[in-house]
Amino acid sequence: MADTQVAIVGGGPAGTLLAHLLESHGIESVVLERRSRDYVLGRIRAGVLEQGTVDLLAAHGLGDRIDREGLRHTGVNLAAGGRVIRIDLAARTGKAVTIYGQTQVQTDLYEARDAAGGAMVFEAEDVALHDLESDRPRLTYSVGCESTTFGADFVAGCDGSHGVCSSYLPAVRRYATDYPFGWLGILAATPPVCDELIYANHPNGFALCSMRSRQLSRYYLQCPMDTDLEEWPDDRFWDELRTRLPATVGDNLITGPSIERSITPLHSLVSEPMQVGRLHLAGDAAHVVPPTGAKGLNLAVSDVHYLSRALAAYYRDGSTGLLNAYSRTALSRVWNAVRFSWWMTQLMHRFPGDGDFGLRMQQTELDYLATSRAAQTAMAENYVGLPL
Ligand code: APR
Ligand code: PHB
Repeated sequence: MADTQVAIVGGGPAGTLLAHLLESHGIESVVLERRSRDYVLGRIRAGVLEQGTVDLLAAHGLGDRIDREGLRHTGVNLAAGGRVIRIDLAARTGKAVTIYGQTQVQTDLYEARDAAGGAMVFEAEDVALHDLESDRPRLTYSVGCESTTFGADFVAGCDGSHGVCSSYLPAVRRYATDYPFGWLGILAATPPVCDELIYANHPNGFALCSMRSRQLSRYYLQCPMDTDLEEWPDDRFWDELRTRLPATVGDNLITGPSIERSITPLHSLVSEPMQVGRLHLAGDAAHVVPPTGAKGLNLAVSDVHYLSRALAAYYRDGSTGLLNAYSRTALSRVWNAVRFSWWMTQLMHRFPGDGDFGLRMQQTELDYLATSRAAQTAMAENYVGLPL
Protein backbone atom coordinates (compact mmCIF):
# COMPACT_ATOMS: atom_id res chain seq x y z
CA MET A 1 0.00 0.00 0.00
CA ALA A 2 1.52 3.35 -1.02
CA ASP A 3 1.63 6.22 1.43
CA THR A 4 -1.30 8.61 1.27
CA GLN A 5 -2.38 12.03 2.52
CA VAL A 6 -5.29 10.97 4.75
CA ALA A 7 -5.80 7.44 6.07
CA ILE A 8 -9.42 6.84 7.07
CA VAL A 9 -10.24 4.00 9.47
CA GLY A 10 -13.86 2.91 9.00
CA GLY A 11 -15.94 2.69 5.82
CA GLY A 12 -19.32 3.65 7.25
CA PRO A 13 -21.09 6.96 6.52
CA ALA A 14 -18.45 9.11 8.26
CA GLY A 15 -15.40 7.50 6.67
CA THR A 16 -16.83 7.18 3.19
CA LEU A 17 -18.27 10.70 3.12
CA LEU A 18 -14.97 12.10 4.39
CA ALA A 19 -13.14 10.37 1.52
CA HIS A 20 -15.68 11.83 -0.91
CA LEU A 21 -15.37 15.37 0.48
CA LEU A 22 -11.56 15.19 0.52
CA GLU A 23 -11.65 14.09 -3.13
CA SER A 24 -13.54 17.29 -3.98
CA HIS A 25 -10.56 19.21 -2.58
CA GLY A 26 -8.09 17.06 -4.51
CA ILE A 27 -6.93 15.33 -1.34
CA GLU A 28 -6.01 11.65 -1.60
CA SER A 29 -7.21 9.14 0.98
CA VAL A 30 -7.41 5.43 1.71
CA VAL A 31 -10.35 3.90 3.60
CA LEU A 32 -9.72 0.80 5.73
CA GLU A 33 -12.99 -1.04 6.53
CA ARG A 34 -13.02 -4.09 8.81
CA ARG A 35 -16.13 -5.68 7.32
CA SER A 36 -17.06 -6.64 3.78
CA ARG A 37 -18.83 -4.15 1.56
CA ASP A 38 -22.01 -6.25 1.58
CA TYR A 39 -21.95 -6.50 5.37
CA VAL A 40 -21.82 -2.73 5.71
CA LEU A 41 -24.60 -2.34 3.17
CA GLY A 42 -26.67 -4.93 5.01
CA ARG A 43 -27.01 -2.78 8.11
CA ILE A 44 -30.54 -1.40 8.60
CA ARG A 45 -30.20 2.04 10.15
CA ALA A 46 -32.49 5.04 10.51
CA GLY A 47 -32.32 7.76 7.92
CA VAL A 48 -33.80 11.06 9.01
CA LEU A 49 -31.63 13.55 7.16
CA GLU A 50 -31.44 17.11 8.46
CA GLN A 51 -31.79 19.91 5.93
CA GLY A 52 -28.06 20.65 6.25
CA THR A 53 -27.19 17.02 5.53
CA VAL A 54 -29.37 16.95 2.41
CA ASP A 55 -27.88 20.26 1.21
CA LEU A 56 -24.31 19.09 1.81
CA LEU A 57 -24.83 15.77 0.02
CA ALA A 58 -26.48 17.56 -2.91
CA ALA A 59 -23.62 20.08 -3.09
CA HIS A 60 -21.22 17.16 -3.55
CA GLY A 61 -23.10 15.31 -6.26
CA LEU A 62 -24.99 12.96 -3.95
CA GLY A 63 -28.45 14.52 -4.16
CA ASP A 64 -30.09 12.97 -7.23
CA ARG A 65 -31.41 9.76 -5.65
CA ILE A 66 -32.39 11.59 -2.47
CA ASP A 67 -34.46 13.95 -4.63
CA ARG A 68 -36.07 10.98 -6.41
CA GLU A 69 -36.61 8.60 -3.51
CA GLY A 70 -36.33 10.66 -0.31
CA LEU A 71 -39.53 11.59 1.53
CA ARG A 72 -39.48 15.28 2.49
CA HIS A 73 -41.32 15.90 5.77
CA THR A 74 -42.34 19.46 6.72
CA GLY A 75 -43.73 18.35 10.07
CA VAL A 76 -43.23 15.88 12.91
CA ASN A 77 -45.78 14.73 15.49
CA LEU A 78 -45.85 14.17 19.25
CA ALA A 79 -48.70 12.05 20.61
CA ALA A 80 -49.79 11.86 24.24
CA GLY A 81 -53.02 11.67 26.21
CA GLY A 82 -55.02 10.70 23.14
CA ARG A 83 -54.04 13.80 21.14
CA VAL A 84 -51.48 14.54 18.42
CA ILE A 85 -49.36 17.72 18.50
CA ARG A 86 -47.98 18.53 15.05
CA ILE A 87 -44.77 20.55 15.01
CA ASP A 88 -44.78 22.47 11.72
CA LEU A 89 -41.06 22.35 10.89
CA ALA A 90 -41.41 24.38 7.70
CA ALA A 91 -43.51 27.14 9.28
CA ARG A 92 -41.25 27.42 12.33
CA THR A 93 -37.85 27.14 10.59
CA GLY A 94 -38.32 27.25 6.81
CA LYS A 95 -36.65 23.84 6.71
CA ALA A 96 -37.68 20.18 6.57
CA VAL A 97 -36.21 16.73 7.17
CA THR A 98 -35.91 14.00 4.54
CA ILE A 99 -36.53 10.31 5.18
CA TYR A 100 -33.85 8.40 3.27
CA GLY A 101 -32.43 5.22 4.81
CA GLN A 102 -28.81 5.18 5.93
CA THR A 103 -28.32 2.08 3.78
CA GLN A 104 -29.27 4.18 0.77
CA VAL A 105 -26.83 6.92 1.82
CA GLN A 106 -24.12 4.27 2.18
CA THR A 107 -24.92 2.79 -1.23
CA ASP A 108 -24.68 6.22 -2.85
CA LEU A 109 -21.36 6.87 -1.10
CA TYR A 110 -19.84 3.55 -2.20
CA GLU A 111 -20.99 4.15 -5.77
CA ALA A 112 -19.39 7.61 -5.69
CA ARG A 113 -16.11 6.17 -4.39
CA ASP A 114 -16.18 3.49 -7.12
CA ALA A 115 -16.79 6.13 -9.78
CA ALA A 116 -13.85 8.18 -8.49
CA GLY A 117 -11.62 5.14 -8.21
CA GLY A 118 -11.32 5.84 -4.49
CA ALA A 119 -9.02 3.52 -2.53
CA MET A 120 -11.13 1.36 -0.22
CA VAL A 121 -9.81 -1.74 1.53
CA PHE A 122 -12.54 -4.05 2.82
CA GLU A 123 -12.03 -6.81 5.37
CA ALA A 124 -9.00 -4.93 6.71
CA GLU A 125 -8.22 -6.55 10.05
CA ASP A 126 -6.08 -5.58 13.04
CA VAL A 127 -5.77 -1.95 12.04
CA ALA A 128 -3.24 -0.29 14.33
CA LEU A 129 -2.00 3.30 14.44
CA HIS A 130 1.58 4.36 15.07
CA ASP A 131 3.56 7.61 15.52
CA LEU A 132 0.43 9.74 15.77
CA GLU A 133 2.35 12.59 17.43
CA SER A 134 4.86 12.67 14.54
CA ASP A 135 4.27 14.39 11.21
CA ARG A 136 4.17 10.99 9.50
CA PRO A 137 1.83 8.57 11.27
CA ARG A 138 1.89 4.97 10.16
CA LEU A 139 -0.86 2.37 9.95
CA THR A 140 -0.64 -1.40 9.91
CA TYR A 141 -3.37 -3.83 8.98
CA SER A 142 -3.85 -7.24 7.45
CA VAL A 143 -6.10 -8.73 4.81
CA GLY A 144 -6.13 -12.48 5.12
CA CYS A 145 -2.55 -13.55 5.74
CA GLU A 146 -0.99 -10.46 4.18
CA SER A 147 0.13 -7.67 6.51
CA THR A 148 0.61 -4.14 5.24
CA THR A 149 2.05 -0.92 6.59
CA PHE A 150 1.82 2.56 5.10
CA GLY A 151 2.25 6.18 6.05
CA ALA A 152 -0.13 9.12 5.95
CA ASP A 153 -0.07 12.82 6.80
CA PHE A 154 -3.25 12.44 8.87
CA VAL A 155 -5.44 9.67 10.28
CA ALA A 156 -9.25 10.02 10.51
CA GLY A 157 -10.82 7.72 13.10
CA CYS A 158 -14.24 6.95 11.62
CA ASP A 159 -14.54 3.43 13.03
CA GLY A 160 -17.73 3.86 15.01
CA SER A 161 -18.63 3.13 18.62
CA HIS A 162 -16.85 -0.25 18.62
CA GLY A 163 -13.73 0.89 16.84
CA VAL A 164 -10.13 1.16 17.98
CA CYS A 165 -9.20 4.74 17.13
CA SER A 166 -10.70 6.36 20.23
CA SER A 167 -8.38 4.20 22.36
CA TYR A 168 -5.42 6.16 20.96
CA LEU A 169 -6.57 9.38 22.64
CA PRO A 170 -4.56 9.40 25.91
CA ALA A 171 -6.37 12.25 27.64
CA VAL A 172 -9.83 11.50 26.46
CA ARG A 173 -12.66 12.24 28.87
CA ARG A 174 -15.86 10.31 28.29
CA TYR A 175 -19.29 11.71 29.18
CA ALA A 176 -21.72 8.78 29.14
CA THR A 177 -25.19 7.80 30.24
CA ASP A 178 -27.14 4.59 29.70
CA TYR A 179 -30.91 4.83 29.49
CA PRO A 180 -32.82 2.22 31.54
CA PHE A 181 -34.70 0.81 28.54
CA GLY A 182 -34.33 -0.13 24.88
CA TRP A 183 -36.32 0.06 21.66
CA LEU A 184 -38.02 -3.01 20.22
CA GLY A 185 -38.08 -2.29 16.48
CA ILE A 186 -40.03 -3.90 13.64
CA LEU A 187 -39.82 -3.46 9.88
CA ALA A 188 -42.93 -4.39 7.87
CA ALA A 189 -43.87 -4.17 4.20
CA THR A 190 -46.97 -2.14 5.04
CA PRO A 191 -47.97 1.47 4.32
CA PRO A 192 -46.95 3.72 7.25
CA VAL A 193 -49.80 4.62 9.61
CA CYS A 194 -49.12 8.32 8.92
CA ASP A 195 -47.26 10.21 6.21
CA GLU A 196 -45.11 11.87 8.90
CA LEU A 197 -43.29 10.54 11.97
CA ILE A 198 -45.16 10.17 15.26
CA TYR A 199 -43.33 10.03 18.61
CA ALA A 200 -45.80 8.79 21.25
CA ASN A 201 -45.70 9.05 25.06
CA HIS A 202 -48.02 6.52 26.75
CA PRO A 203 -48.20 5.22 30.35
CA ASN A 204 -47.09 1.82 28.99
CA GLY A 205 -44.09 3.45 27.36
CA PHE A 206 -42.77 5.23 24.27
CA ALA A 207 -43.72 4.31 20.69
CA LEU A 208 -42.44 5.65 17.37
CA CYS A 209 -44.10 5.40 13.96
CA SER A 210 -41.56 5.85 11.18
CA MET A 211 -40.92 4.55 7.68
CA ARG A 212 -38.36 3.68 5.03
CA SER A 213 -40.70 4.39 2.11
CA ARG A 214 -44.44 4.66 1.42
CA GLN A 215 -44.54 0.85 1.35
CA LEU A 216 -42.10 0.06 4.17
CA SER A 217 -43.00 0.91 7.79
CA ARG A 218 -40.66 1.12 10.75
CA TYR A 219 -42.10 1.04 14.30
CA TYR A 220 -40.51 1.00 17.75
CA LEU A 221 -41.77 0.28 21.27
CA GLN A 222 -39.90 1.21 24.43
CA CYS A 223 -39.04 -2.06 26.19
CA PRO A 224 -37.01 -3.25 29.19
CA MET A 225 -33.37 -3.93 28.34
CA ASP A 226 -33.76 -7.65 29.12
CA THR A 227 -36.67 -8.06 26.71
CA ASP A 228 -36.66 -11.38 24.87
CA LEU A 229 -37.61 -10.94 21.20
CA GLU A 230 -39.13 -14.44 21.27
CA GLU A 231 -41.75 -13.15 23.72
CA TRP A 232 -42.85 -10.52 21.21
CA PRO A 233 -44.50 -12.22 18.26
CA ASP A 234 -45.84 -9.81 15.64
CA ASP A 235 -49.42 -9.87 16.93
CA ARG A 236 -48.32 -8.83 20.40
CA PHE A 237 -46.21 -6.02 18.93
CA TRP A 238 -49.08 -4.69 16.81
CA ASP A 239 -51.55 -4.83 19.72
CA GLU A 240 -49.18 -2.93 22.04
CA LEU A 241 -48.33 -0.38 19.36
CA ARG A 242 -52.04 0.27 18.77
CA THR A 243 -52.51 0.65 22.54
CA ARG A 244 -49.76 3.29 22.79
CA LEU A 245 -51.12 5.38 19.91
CA PRO A 246 -54.11 7.75 20.01
CA ALA A 247 -57.22 5.97 18.69
CA THR A 248 -57.35 8.39 15.73
CA VAL A 249 -53.98 6.97 14.67
CA GLY A 250 -54.16 3.38 15.89
CA ASP A 251 -57.44 2.80 14.04
CA ASN A 252 -55.54 3.39 10.76
CA LEU A 253 -52.68 1.00 11.56
CA ILE A 254 -52.11 -1.54 8.77
CA THR A 255 -50.29 -4.55 10.17
CA GLY A 256 -48.39 -7.31 8.43
CA PRO A 257 -45.60 -9.84 8.99
CA SER A 258 -42.34 -8.40 10.27
CA ILE A 259 -39.37 -8.64 7.90
CA GLU A 260 -36.87 -7.54 10.53
CA ARG A 261 -37.02 -7.21 14.32
CA SER A 262 -34.40 -5.94 16.74
CA ILE A 263 -33.79 -4.50 20.18
CA THR A 264 -31.68 -1.32 20.35
CA PRO A 265 -30.15 -0.10 23.63
CA LEU A 266 -30.23 3.64 24.25
CA HIS A 267 -27.13 5.39 25.46
CA SER A 268 -25.18 8.56 25.03
CA LEU A 269 -21.43 9.02 24.90
CA VAL A 270 -19.20 11.96 24.05
CA SER A 271 -15.39 11.68 23.99
CA GLU A 272 -13.42 14.87 24.54
CA PRO A 273 -11.22 15.88 22.84
CA MET A 274 -11.86 14.40 19.37
CA GLN A 275 -8.26 14.74 18.26
CA VAL A 276 -4.65 14.05 19.29
CA GLY A 277 -1.64 14.82 17.11
CA ARG A 278 -2.44 13.76 13.55
CA LEU A 279 -5.48 11.64 14.60
CA HIS A 280 -8.96 13.17 14.35
CA LEU A 281 -12.13 11.27 15.31
CA ALA A 282 -15.44 11.71 13.47
CA GLY A 283 -18.91 10.20 13.83
CA ASP A 284 -19.79 7.41 16.23
CA ALA A 285 -16.07 6.91 16.98
CA ALA A 286 -16.32 10.12 19.03
CA HIS A 287 -19.93 10.24 20.14
CA VAL A 288 -23.13 8.21 20.32
CA VAL A 289 -26.64 9.58 20.81
CA PRO A 290 -29.93 7.78 21.59
CA PRO A 291 -31.98 7.42 18.37
CA THR A 292 -34.80 9.57 19.78
CA GLY A 293 -33.53 12.71 18.08
CA ALA A 294 -32.42 10.94 14.87
CA LYS A 295 -29.05 12.71 15.12
CA GLY A 296 -26.43 9.93 14.70
CA LEU A 297 -25.99 10.07 10.93
CA ASN A 298 -26.33 13.86 10.84
CA LEU A 299 -23.55 14.32 13.40
CA ALA A 300 -21.28 12.04 11.35
CA VAL A 301 -21.95 14.34 8.39
CA SER A 302 -21.26 17.56 10.30
CA ASP A 303 -18.04 16.16 11.80
CA VAL A 304 -16.62 15.25 8.42
CA HIS A 305 -17.76 18.57 6.98
CA TYR A 306 -15.64 20.37 9.58
CA LEU A 307 -12.72 17.92 9.24
CA SER A 308 -12.61 18.01 5.44
CA ARG A 309 -12.74 21.82 5.51
CA ALA A 310 -9.84 21.91 7.98
CA LEU A 311 -7.73 19.46 5.95
CA ALA A 312 -8.46 21.39 2.75
CA ALA A 313 -7.14 24.58 4.40
CA TYR A 314 -3.98 22.75 5.50
CA TYR A 315 -3.24 21.36 2.04
CA ARG A 316 -4.17 24.64 0.38
CA ASP A 317 -1.87 26.97 2.32
CA GLY A 318 -0.44 25.05 5.29
CA SER A 319 -2.77 26.76 7.74
CA THR A 320 -3.52 24.69 10.84
CA GLY A 321 -6.05 26.97 12.55
CA LEU A 322 -9.13 24.97 11.53
CA LEU A 323 -7.36 21.68 12.26
CA ASN A 324 -6.38 22.82 15.74
CA ALA A 325 -9.96 24.02 16.35
CA TYR A 326 -11.61 20.90 14.88
CA SER A 327 -12.49 19.21 18.16
CA ARG A 328 -13.90 22.39 19.70
CA THR A 329 -15.90 23.21 16.56
CA ALA A 330 -17.34 19.70 16.15
CA LEU A 331 -18.10 19.27 19.86
CA SER A 332 -20.13 22.47 20.00
CA ARG A 333 -22.58 20.97 17.52
CA VAL A 334 -22.31 17.48 19.03
CA TRP A 335 -23.34 18.71 22.50
CA ASN A 336 -26.36 20.53 21.07
CA ALA A 337 -27.48 17.28 19.41
CA VAL A 338 -26.75 15.25 22.56
CA ARG A 339 -28.83 17.68 24.62
CA PHE A 340 -31.73 17.58 22.16
CA SER A 341 -31.63 13.77 21.99
CA TRP A 342 -31.59 13.67 25.81
CA TRP A 343 -34.50 16.15 25.98
CA MET A 344 -36.62 14.17 23.49
CA THR A 345 -35.83 10.92 25.35
CA GLN A 346 -36.74 12.42 28.74
CA LEU A 347 -39.94 13.90 27.35
CA MET A 348 -41.30 10.85 25.56
CA HIS A 349 -40.28 7.78 27.59
CA ARG A 350 -41.48 6.29 30.88
CA PHE A 351 -38.58 6.22 33.32
CA PRO A 352 -38.67 3.74 36.21
CA GLY A 353 -39.04 5.65 39.46
CA ASP A 354 -40.40 8.77 37.73
CA GLY A 355 -43.74 8.43 39.53
CA ASP A 356 -46.64 10.83 39.22
CA PHE A 357 -44.40 13.89 39.44
CA GLY A 358 -42.36 12.81 36.41
CA LEU A 359 -45.53 12.05 34.47
CA ARG A 360 -46.95 15.48 35.35
CA MET A 361 -43.72 17.18 34.22
CA GLN A 362 -43.97 15.44 30.83
CA GLN A 363 -47.64 16.35 30.46
CA THR A 364 -46.91 19.97 31.34
CA GLU A 365 -44.07 20.19 28.81
CA LEU A 366 -46.28 18.64 26.13
CA ASP A 367 -49.06 21.12 26.96
CA TYR A 368 -46.52 23.93 26.57
CA LEU A 369 -45.40 22.52 23.20
CA ALA A 370 -49.04 22.27 22.10
CA THR A 371 -49.74 25.95 22.82
CA SER A 372 -46.44 27.86 22.49
CA ARG A 373 -44.99 28.88 19.13
CA ALA A 374 -41.68 29.59 20.90
CA ALA A 375 -41.57 26.07 22.33
CA GLN A 376 -42.41 24.59 18.93
CA THR A 377 -39.72 26.70 17.25
CA ALA A 378 -37.12 25.54 19.76
CA MET A 379 -37.97 21.91 19.07
CA ALA A 380 -38.24 22.41 15.32
CA GLU A 381 -34.86 24.13 14.88
CA ASN A 382 -33.14 21.29 16.73
CA TYR A 383 -35.03 18.58 14.86
CA VAL A 384 -34.27 19.99 11.37
CA GLY A 385 -30.69 20.56 12.51
CA LEU A 386 -28.85 23.63 13.77
CA PRO A 387 -26.77 25.47 11.15
CA LEU A 388 -23.42 23.84 10.27
N1 APR B 1 -10.94 -1.20 11.61
C1 APR B 1 -11.60 -0.85 10.46
N2 APR B 1 -12.92 -0.57 10.41
C2 APR B 1 -13.61 -0.64 11.57
C3 APR B 1 -13.00 -0.99 12.81
C4 APR B 1 -11.61 -1.26 12.79
N3 APR B 1 -10.96 -1.59 13.91
N4 APR B 1 -13.96 -0.95 13.78
C5 APR B 1 -15.11 -0.61 13.18
N5 APR B 1 -14.91 -0.43 11.86
C6 APR B 1 -15.90 -0.04 10.84
C7 APR B 1 -17.26 -0.67 11.05
O1 APR B 1 -17.34 -1.95 10.43
C8 APR B 1 -18.19 0.35 10.38
O2 APR B 1 -18.45 0.01 9.02
O3 APR B 1 -16.11 1.35 10.95
C9 APR B 1 -17.41 1.66 10.44
C10 APR B 1 -18.08 2.67 11.38
O4 APR B 1 -19.35 3.01 10.82
P1 APR B 1 -20.59 3.42 11.77
O5 APR B 1 -20.59 2.55 12.97
O6 APR B 1 -21.81 3.43 10.91
O7 APR B 1 -20.24 4.88 12.27
P2 APR B 1 -20.20 6.25 11.45
O8 APR B 1 -19.59 6.08 10.12
O9 APR B 1 -19.66 7.23 12.40
O10 APR B 1 -21.75 6.59 11.19
C11 APR B 1 -22.60 6.93 12.24
O11 APR B 1 -23.94 5.07 11.72
O12 APR B 1 -24.06 3.53 13.42
C12 APR B 1 -24.76 4.51 12.78
O13 APR B 1 -26.33 5.41 14.31
C13 APR B 1 -25.08 5.62 13.72
O14 APR B 1 -26.29 6.80 12.12
C14 APR B 1 -25.06 6.78 12.82
C15 APR B 1 -23.96 6.48 11.84
C1 PHB C 1 -36.22 5.22 12.07
O1 PHB C 1 -36.95 5.40 11.05
O2 PHB C 1 -35.59 4.15 12.25
C2 PHB C 1 -36.12 6.33 13.08
C3 PHB C 1 -36.74 7.54 12.84
C4 PHB C 1 -36.64 8.57 13.78
C5 PHB C 1 -35.93 8.35 14.95
C6 PHB C 1 -35.29 7.12 15.18
C7 PHB C 1 -35.39 6.10 14.25
O3 PHB C 1 -35.84 9.35 15.88
